[in-house]
Amino acid sequence: MKLTDALLGEHGVIYELFAYVRDTAANSDDVQQIQGAVEVLERLLLSHARIEEELLFPRLDPHLGEMGPLAVMREEHRQIEDLLTAAKLRSDTGALRSVIGQLLDLAHDHFQKEEGVLFAMAGQFLDAADLTELGNDWAARRKVMLTG
Ligand SMILES: [Fe+2]
Ligand SMILES: [Fe+2]
Repeated sequence: MKLTDALLGEHGVIYELFAYVRDTAANSDDVQQIQGAVEVLERLLLSHARIEEELLFPRLDPHLGEMGPLAVMREEHRQIEDLLTAAKLRSDTGALRSVIGQLLDLAHDHFQKEEGVLFAMAGQFLDAADLTELGNDWAARRKVMLTG
């Protein structure tokens, strides 16, 4: 399996979690419950971004250069991290909901750019064998057994 297919599958699952966090923030007045939902999202988003930064982006650097889409993606990863940290520091529901709104909008937009632009570029610049080898690295990190 290609790494980009694995990352797309992760996006699909994380979109569901975005919806859960948005619903929890909208419907609950319990700060701890809302922050608990954000902590699950943090765990998934950070490990997802780490896999992109360690497996995919370094392979694209020689093709895309330091500036351009990779610089934007790395910067957005930092901004997402900052908003996750900010959410943990908010103790009133209004401020917490506002940070979560910014976080979900940014993360959703970031995913869309990766799907529409970056992963397409990966398919253009990296050959299928490289993407499959990277997919094996992804499976080892995620402890997923690939057969065939
Ligand atoms: Fe990303
Ligand atoms: Fe991603």
